[in-house]
Amino acid sequence: MEMTITIALTKGRIEKSTVDLLVKAGFDMSFMKDKGRHLIFESPDKAFRFLLVKAPDVATYVQHGVADVGIVGKDLLIEYATDVLEILDLNFGLCKFVVASVPSYNPQDHKRKCIATKYPEIARQHFHKKGEDVEIIAIQGSVEIAPVLGLADAIVDIVETGATLVANGLIEFEDICRISARLIVNQAALKNKVEVIDFIQKIEHIVGRKEKSL
Ligand code: PRP
Repeated sequence: MEMTITIALTKGRIEKSTVDLLVKAGFDMSFMKDKGRHLIFESPDKAFRFLLVKAPDVATYVQHGVADVGIVGKDLLIEYATDVLEILDLNFGLCKFVVASVPSYNPQDHKRKCIATKYPEIARQHFHKKGEDVEIIAIQGSVEIAPVLGLADAIVDIVETGATLVANGLIEFEDICRISARLIVNQAALKNKVEVIDFIQKIEHIVGRKEKSL
């Protein structure tokens, strides 16, 4: 009998593009149209089980082997550095990390800066690389208001369309890195489950390009 493979999907922003990719790869994802409040779905032949979880938890499920594979943004992989293999750049969910602030912000200013962010590790790494010691204030969302209200000198955040920066009167000062959705896999599942290799190949066929491991 075929083994079931479990796939952790990210709820929210990249959900639609993820489902579109899986449909193109030949999976029947019709359950997503009428999913209600359900968070676990099984294919009728029981060959696949899909979990819908919050972005920061996708890699956790994969690392612990509860899910064999997962689809999640690179931002979470950098921020939480989980022990999973990054197999493919899926080339959607495209955005970037930037340092942004109000126009009067001076990146060259020698005083110790205060940076507000939802991604303290990414902010820490960025300023560490530049040899700059900064104070990091971790916040949960609506980061763009922090420099406007004087909570921080600048923010490290994700920009997709740029609309949120513009709406709050902020501009980009530094590009940090490009972000996109990635296919990740549990190391043991990759070794032991042939179905996992089949799944990866189906996705790879659609995406058409292999990326390096983490
Ligand atoms: C993200 C990010 C920016 C915004 C960027 O936040 O932190 O605020 O999207 O998108 P844009 O460049 O297309 O405007 P999200 O919408 O996830 O909300 P949050 O601030 O509540 O976390």
